[in-house]
Amino acid sequence: MFRARLVLDRDFVVGALDRRLFGVLVEHVGRSVHGGLFEPGHPTADAHGFRQDVLALVREMGVTTVRYPGGNFLSGYDWEDGVGPPQQRPARLDLAWHSTESNAFGTDEFIRWCRAAGVEPMLGVNLGTRGADAARRLVEYCNHPGGTQLSDWRRSHGFDAPHAVRAWCLGNEMDAPWQIGQKSAAEYGRLARDCARLMRAVSPDLQLTACGSSSRSLPTFGQWEYEVLEQCFEEVDLVSLHAYFENPQADSWEFLGNIDSLDGHIREVAAIADAVAARRHSRKRTLLAVDEWNTWYRARSGEHARQPGWPSAPRLIEEIHTFEDALAAGGALCVLMNHADRVKVACLAQLVNAIGAIRTEPGGPAWRQAIFHPFALASRHARGQVLQPAIDSPAGSGRLHPEMPYLVASATHDRQAQRTAIFALNRHLAQPMALEVELRGADPRWVLQEAVELHHPELHAINTAAEPDTVSPRPHRGVELEPGRLRARLQPGSWNVFVLAC
Ligand code: AHR
Repeated sequence: MFRARLVLDRDFVVGALDRRLFGVLVEHVGRSVHGGLFEPGHPTADAHGFRQDVLALVREMGVTTVRYPGGNFLSGYDWEDGVGPPQQRPARLDLAWHSTESNAFGTDEFIRWCRAAGVEPMLGVNLGTRGADAARRLVEYCNHPGGTQLSDWRRSHGFDAPHAVRAWCLGNEMDAPWQIGQKSAAEYGRLARDCARLMRAVSPDLQLTACGSSSRSLPTFGQWEYEVLEQCFEEVDLVSLHAYFENPQADSWEFLGNIDSLDGHIREVAAIADAVAARRHSRKRTLLAVDEWNTWYRARSGEHARQPGWPSAPRLIEEIHTFEDALAAGGALCVLMNHADRVKVACLAQLVNAIGAIRTEPGGPAWRQAIFHPFALASRHARGQVLQPAIDSPAGSGRLHPEMPYLVASATHDRQAQRTAIFALNRHLAQPMALEVELRGADPRWVLQEAVELHHPELHAINTAAEPDTVSPRPHRGVELEPGRLRARLQPGSWNVFVLAC
């Protein structure tokens, strides 16, 4: 057993936690939409074909925001195909995933589904095969009250009130060699600028996200962000970054170093955005959207990414998440919280089946993958301000990160509700941690309201349809609270949540 210490002070805050940190991506890929959240004929489906078992899990997971319709799919999508009477919609080839898209589910169904789920929509505009004009038409279709051809078109589809979509993504991963309509930074930056201006001319209050580089490991990374923001700095509010954790060497310790990589990645993108601001003598701070993050490396290529012919809703990129992935997700959530001053949107990629936190079978059950749990716990308990965590922990060293503290932690404090939530990962995979949390300024009347542990002795444990609860949170039994101090024994390889309330 080794010791680690976390000091928190309710007056030392990172920033207000944006609840959109608990967003997800829903893309038309594989069985994400079709057979995932939308399956007419399923025993739990409502009149709109929305699976109620999936909707119940989405609510339990605490999803706040959904980015749609892609992903790579976005860059070849004609939004007009997905609206209007379903029987008249065209089936199309989806060139991104080599599938056939029926278009039975489109923008209007998505908005209806978001209302049912109680989440905020974040729509993407296609800047691969299309451009600013198609984007402003979609904004007018969605947000204009009526009296124009496009807004009346929406009303004729049964949506009298505007969809009132505020958050929009200007394309997807536009520097990626795999992206339909890949662009240079100069081309994309100019296009994003023009697109933003047109979209805002229709609907002034939009919050717009420009594409950062698709990956920190691409040669375009860094220069891309700089050049793109040089073009559209005034027009966009956020710049995106995408992070997929991999474990190619099957080395669990190195794998958990992805948590540190995400931290570095966020700092780098923020620094580049600030360099653009400095050069312009601007006080504006471009915010960050980590609008794709997850573990994804097993079901990534070959038959997982493309199947023969042009199948409809094939089983693509159906990553099966292990307990180890859940530890990494728990650590990633701490990192996202600890950058609350800058990261205002984050989307777990993705929600259902395709790299999904939720899995389904056609006509059958829906269940929670291991990564579902840290996300749901963090979304349930993280509220208010993120506190600055002062961490004193022994560290191990990794190939990419010479110093990896065993304790990864974050904490939030909700002044109104008088609740503090602490999230702590012990990423030492062999030894338990004696954690001491010093709560400066804490009211002595505070009590432990909830203590939960996510742990499994087998790092590769998974949840399946037959055994859906193999990896699931349990009450934490090793916690003591005394005035101003919390002590807990954290199992080797465990993610833990402690909630204190007055
Ligand atoms: O989430 C799967 C894919 O990963 C998305 O379509 C794309 O944006 C990213 O490369």
